[in-house]
Amino acid sequence: MIRLSDLRYVRIGTPNPAAAAEYARRILGLELVRREGNAIYLRGDGRDHTLVYFQGNATDHSTGWEISSASALESAAAELEAAKIAAHRGTRTESEQRYVADFIWFADPSGNRHELVIGPNASAKPFAPARDCGVWSFSHIGLRTTNAARDEAFWTTVMSARTSDRIGDAALLRIDEVHHKIALFPSRHPGVQHVNHQVHGVDDVMRSYYFLREQGVKIVFGPGRHPTSGAVFLYFEGPDGMVYEYSTGVRLIKPEEEPTYRPRQFPFVPESFCMWGSRPDIAEFKK
Ligand SMILES: [Fe+2]
Repeated sequence: MIRLSDLRYVRIGTPNPAAAAEYARRILGLELVRREGNAIYLRGDGRDHTLVYFQGNATDHSTGWEISSASALESAAAELEAAKIAAHRGTRTESEQRYVADFIWFADPSGNRHELVIGPNASAKPFAPARDCGVWSFSHIGLRTTNAARDEAFWTTVMSARTSDRIGDAALLRIDEVHHKIALFPSRHPGVQHVNHQVHGVDDVMRSYYFLREQGVKIVFGPGRHPTSGAVFLYFEGPDGMVYEYSTGVRLIKPEEEPTYRPRQFPFVPESFCMWGSRPDIAEFKK
């Protein structure tokens, strides 16, 4: 089993990195880290970077997962091969572009590209959000799956993820105490479905709700509260149709709960996504 210790970054292709980065800074409130080659690096917490927009196709997404050591990276490559998934070694230049010591990449059974990294750079510089948005951490991704049961099995057997809850076939998976770091949503094609940042509290969610409305940003779901994780959320549309989320108050599943924790099965109805009655305008959250 490949032990995932953290979700480090998401890399998103776009025909217009400058416009996407401007949105991420001015609207989302992330900190601009650097422009380098055809890529722009941003962050939503104190790590070197957590989001990269690169010049490319808007359907080209990849995620970066930290694993513990060089030997774990070697074992991971072997375990992927044993699961009949090709593991590719990143080049030195690609590692430098990711600010990691080394990495391998692979496509999951739906075709989503993931990178397993070691030695991702920390940063000594305190995180400085571009606006007073309350963001303190890049936290999770929604990931499209073309076969939910198959991909849940992949993430929980080849990878170290555990199922926290399900809404219909959509599994919410944790890799640490946080209720979910990946949410697998059935779709016809692969790709990152949404990008989540944690904010400090409900006041930040609501302040951003009014700010985003004033800025003409399309709100696609919320404000609301997920009955699964207990988080208060707001989803809105970003560049190239990507959905971004702020949330706060996500449930933690503590180590002492692990032995007896059982995932709950919620029906695939709007109430399972929002217990306050907000209706999602997000295709993957609707039948
Ligand atoms: Fe989410």
